[in-house]
Amino acid sequence: MAAAGSAIGLGNIWKFPYITGQNGGGAFVLVYLVCILVVGLPIMMAELMIGRHTRRDAVGAFMTLEKRTSPWILVGWVSTISAFIILSYYAVVAGWTLDYIYLAVVGSFTGQSPETIVGLFGSLIDNGTRQTFWLFIFLVLCLGIVIGGVQKGIERWSKILMPILFVLLILLFGNAMLSDGAAEGLRFMFRPDFGKLTPGAILEAMGHSFYTLSLGMAIMITYGSYLSRDEDLFGASVKIATLDTIIALVAGLAIFPIVFAVGMEPAAGPGLVFKTIPVTFSKLPGGYLLAILFFLLLSFAALTSAVSLLEAQVAYLIDEKGWGRKKATTVLTCVTFLLGIPSALSYNVLRNFKTLGNRSFFDSLDLIASNYLLPIAGLFTAIYVGWFWRGSEEKKELVAGNSGWIYPVWHFLIRYVTPVAVGTVLYFKVNESGLFTWVATMLP
Ligand code: PHE
Repeated sequence: MAAAGSAIGLGNIWKFPYITGQNGGGAFVLVYLVCILVVGLPIMMAELMIGRHTRRDAVGAFMTLEKRTSPWILVGWVSTISAFIILSYYAVVAGWTLDYIYLAVVGSFTGQSPETIVGLFGSLIDNGTRQTFWLFIFLVLCLGIVIGGVQKGIERWSKILMPILFVLLILLFGNAMLSDGAAEGLRFMFRPDFGKLTPGAILEAMGHSFYTLSLGMAIMITYGSYLSRDEDLFGASVKIATLDTIIALVAGLAIFPIVFAVGMEPAAGPGLVFKTIPVTFSKLPGGYLLAILFFLLLSFAALTSAVSLLEAQVAYLIDEKGWGRKKATTVLTCVTFLLGIPSALSYNVLRNFKTLGNRSFFDSLDLIASNYLLPIAGLFTAIYVGWFWRGSEEKKELVAGNSGWIYPVWHFLIRYVTPVAVGTVLYFKVNESGLFTWVATMLP
């Protein structure tokens, strides 16, 4: 349940719909689904195995499996650093959801026109102070939970609140299906137009399969370390991935019909969910309360994911550096806040500060972490588990209690299919970015 709580978050409800919109819909969704199946699922099993076998944090896990100086430890490092980068801007978006609870409470959506509601997001984004304030509040919440112990409070609440979020999404989905944009929304999401499928879109889809399943980020290794030996890893991974995928698809189906019904752009970017869902609530009976409930639950989903990001880094400082939990959490939260500020200011004060091919600071961090660091960590995890991990007995444990075909299929995927797929996509993307040419010119 905790792993599902980590996987299900803003990635499903905020990010998946907006990147689907930016990458042209159907074909992107298809590639994403294939990536979950042949890349995400095998790697999730591999990470859980590593964690369960070593019972350590990600860096410590590779130190246990190999020598302390082995280069494989870099994989643990890359994942821990990604967790740090991702949390910094993830918390900014989570701050937006907190702001929207406030907007819902003061009744900003009820009876308003779609234009006014879309404008609300604009004024939030224009306001750096407001975003920094909510970023701060959200991080304080994370800090409190991680210091207080993840298991006690948050797990119990997850079991109650996540199903309610799901029911609410189904309701929004039903409502979207009754709207004027239903047919166009369905067409947009499910009719593939391969002409729109650029190499960048494929990398984005693959990167997102890592992001949404919380892979390549030290998290599943950490959580695997809490699993008992007779737990069915295959079954657990399938459950997490299925649940996660259903939520993302339902979120998309709740959003795109509204986009078309009110004549918005599917490629509206990171504000998509904030501009569409309140439009629905503004018209629904009981919309005032439902809007509050929705953003409360969305913040909660963000919190369970953010906590796992923080926990993965805290685990490293505690296990490997011998820090106390309080000190580790406080220091990391402060540093995350500092790195988060430029993301909170990306669309206002720092509007004209562009990095990485004319991207805002916020988008650059997301690009580096989700599109490069996560796939790189995933690629090397697959190569390690498929080719170099000597504990082959442990691999057999993976499918203990399952029918015999799972192990060979998984082993084939993790040895050949996953690394080749991830490696090829990364190669094309890096090649396109001109990095190789640049390196070549630097060589004597
Ligand atoms: N998987 C989470 C989501 O979909 C995001 C996340 C990424 C959480 C990495 C933890 C680690 O929102």
